Amino acid sequence: MSLIEKIRRRDASLAVIGLGYVGLPLLVEFARAGFRTVGIDIDADKVRRVNAGESYVGDVPAAVLGEAVASGRLRATTDFSVLAQADTVNICVPTPLRKTRDPDISYIVACVEEIAKYLHDPQLVILESTTYPGTTEEVIQPMLEAGGYRTGENFFLAFSPERVDPGNAKFNTKNIPKVVGGITPACTEVAAALYASTLAEVVSVSSARVAETVKLLENTFRSVNIGLVNEIALMCGKMEIDVWEVIAAAATKPFGFMAFYPGPGLGGHCIPIDPFYLSWKAKLAGFEARFIELAGQINGSMPEYVVTKVADTLNSLRKSVNGSRVLVVGVSYKADIDDIRESPALDIIRLLRKHGAEVVFHDRLVDPEHAELEGTRYVDLKPETARACDCAVVVTGHSGVDYQVLLENAPAVVDTRNVYSGVRSPKIVKL
Ligand SMILES: NC(=O)c1ccc[n+]([C@@H]2O[C@H](COP(=O)([O-])OP(=O)(O)OC[C@H]3O[C@@H](n4cnc5c(N)ncnc54)[C@H](O)[C@@H]3O)[C@@H](O)[C@H]2O)c1
Repeated sequence: MSLIEKIRRRDASLAVIGLGYVGLPLLVEFARAGFRTVGIDIDADKVRRVNAGESYVGDVPAAVLGEAVASGRLRATTDFSVLAQADTVNICVPTPLRKTRDPDISYIVACVEEIAKYLHDPQLVILESTTYPGTTEEVIQPMLEAGGYRTGENFFLAFSPERVDPGNAKFNTKNIPKVVGGITPACTEVAAALYASTLAEVVSVSSARVAETVKLLENTFRSVNIGLVNEIALMCGKMEIDVWEVIAAAATKPFGFMAFYPGPGLGGHCIPIDPFYLSWKAKLAGFEARFIELAGQINGSMPEYVVTKVADTLNSLRKSVNGSRVLVVGVSYKADIDDIRESPALDIIRLLRKHGAEVVFHDRLVDPEHAELEGTRYVDLKPETARACDCAVVVTGHSGVDYQVLLENAPAVVDTRNVYSGVRSPKIVKL
C-alpha cells in the first residue's frame, strides 16, 4: 500500500516533534481525525502533562486532549526511537534569533539529526517551524540524504508554514488554510494528502522555498504595517491629533484600506522575529530589505515612547519616574493569552525600573511567578492597588477585565491599547 493510501485509510502512524503552541494543537487534530499519533518533546514535564491529559496550551481544551489520550490515539514521549514506526513526522520546534539577530536553526538541526537515525522508506518529513527560504532544501535535505536515501523516491520532504494565532476564537489549526510545498512534486502530493485528511483546506505551492517565503511575507506584512501605523501615531502625537479617531474613520473606507493599530511594540514568537529570517537570507543574496529594518527600528522604539508618556504624565502631577510606583496592566504580548515571549511589557518594565520606578503588575492570565518578571511584584486589580500607584499603564487589554477600576481610582492612566476607546478624561493619556 502506498503512503498516500495508508494516510487516506487512517492506517498511517503520525509523529509530531515539539509540543508547544504549534505542535500540540496539530497532534490533537491528527488524533481527532482518527490517526494513531505520538508527540515527541525534549521537555519531560510537557510529555508527562500530555500523557496525563493536562493541557498547557490555551487553544487546546483539557477535555479534548484527555479524550484523545483516553482513546489510545495520542501519547507523548521523550524517546525519538518511536520514529522508527512513524510514517510521517512534523517538526514544530522553536526558531529564535541569536543576539546578533541572525537565525538560530539549531533546534531544527538537533531534531533532524534524530530523524535521520530512524529514517525509513517510505516516510514523510514536514518542517513547520518558521524559517528562512531554503532551509528545507539546503539544510534538511542533505542531512536526510546522507544515509543514501533519495528525496521524492525513498522519503518525502516538504515545508508547511504554521499560521496559528493563539487565542483566536474563530481561526484555529483546523480551519486555517494550510500552505504546503515539497522538494519534489511527489513530496508536495504526499504532504498535501496528509493535511487534507485532517484540515479544512490545503493550498499546494510549487516548492518548499515558496512555502517558506509565504510565511515570511505574511509576517513581514504585519510588521511593516504595524511599523507604519506606529510611525503615524508618533507623528500624530507631535501634532496633537487623536490617531485612534483617524484610524476609526479611515477604516470606514470599504476598499483599499486595512486598519492596523498602534501599540507599545511588537511581541510574541513571530512578528518581531520572522522578518529578520527573511532579511538575513536576502542579505546573503546581496539584497538589503529596507522596509523590514525600518519597521524593526520603529516598532522597537515604542516601549521607550510609552515610558516617555509615563514620565510626562508623572511630570504633570509634579512627580518623577524615580521613586514613583507604576502599575503595569497586562504583560502578555497580546490580549487574551498567557504568553509573554518578547512582550513589549518586559521592555517597558525594565526601562521604568532603570529610571528608578517601583513597578508592580497585574495580568489575570500570566503566572505571577513567571521568571522573566522577577523582581516585579504581582498585585490584584482593585480600587486600593489602583489608588496606591502614581500612574498605571495598560499594555495588554485583556477582554473581560474591569478597567473602570483604573479610571475611577488611579491618579493617571497611560493607555497604549485604546481600552478606553471613546472615553474622554483628563486622567487618560493615549498613545
Ligand atoms: N506560537 C505561535 O503563535 C506560532 C505561530 C506560527 C508559527 N510558529 C512557529 O512555530 C515554531 C514553534 O513555535 P511554538 O510557539 O510552538 O514554540 P514552543 O516553544 O511553544 O514549542 C516548541 C517545543 O519544542 C520543544 N523542543 C525544542 N527542541 C526540541 C528538540 N530538539 N526535539 C524535540 N522537541 C524540542 C520545546 O521543548 C517546546 O515544547 C516556531 O518556528 C514558530 O516561529 C509559532
